Amino acid sequence: MRLILLGPPGAGKGTQANFIKEKFNIPQISTGDMLRAAVKAGTPLGLEAKKVMDAGGLVSDDIIIGLVKDRLKQPDCANGYLFDGFPRTIPQADAMKDAGVAIDYVLEIDVPDESIVERMSGRRVHQSSGRTYHVKFNPPKVEGKDDVTGEELIQRDDDKEETVKKRLTVYHDQTEVLVGYYNKWAESGKPGAPKYRKISGVGPVET
Ligand code: AP5
Ligand code: ZN
Repeated sequence: MRLILLGPPGAGKGTQANFIKEKFNIPQISTGDMLRAAVKAGTPLGLEAKKVMDAGGLVSDDIIIGLVKDRLKQPDCANGYLFDGFPRTIPQADAMKDAGVAIDYVLEIDVPDESIVERMSGRRVHQSSGRTYHVKFNPPKVEGKDDVTGEELIQRDDDKEETVKKRLTVYHDQTEVLVGYYNKWAESGKPGAPKYRKISGVGPVET
């Protein structure tokens, strides 16, 4: 199974990815998690990316496309993959199409902007796994601790209200065009075209 999870910041891509990757036994390829790992490791890429991420902007297409192409060479992608937060621009989507990277489904998670800031302010993350909680909507079993490892949960640096608003603007300006892009491709029915499904991201996580 080869999937793209598309949706605004805080739509629940990472949250739903956790279920989907287990069900299909496929790796989650989150460009956001990959960048945060580079920031934590203090690599040159990480140092560069941190500035952009903290400002709520997008890291350059060349860097992201390079990262994903390398990741797809890993043996665990043979059985499929789940893209989370990628592609995020037309050049990123085109690069995958041109490289013949197959996609079975594009799942759009739809959440209105009004819900996003509340979700982000309550988000808590287990840094090394990317597992995500919410203090109110999806609390961990023990406050402040990851369910699996018991390790400390943190708040993301880019979850400040102004940064969230900037990220939402960037989503509407640069990423939302992919809704039309993939819908059009799906409707073309051409060989290799993905199926497109829009799903409401409001309501209980399990639903
Ligand atoms: P990235 O990490 O991809 O962030 P994002 O797309 O902004 O999405 P989020 O991770 O914030 O949200 P999510 O949809 O995963 O929601 P979650 O499940 O956590 O990217 C970060 C940055 O990296 C970007 O800003 C950019 O700078 C850079 N970057 C990454 N990829 C890039 C690319 N391809 N190109 C260029 N730059 C790139 O849920 C959010 C909260 O809501 C949680 O607390 C959760 O518990 C809660 N929640 C989830 N579902 C529900 C529900 N149904 N009801 C109530 N609460 C819920
Ligand atoms: Zn995420």
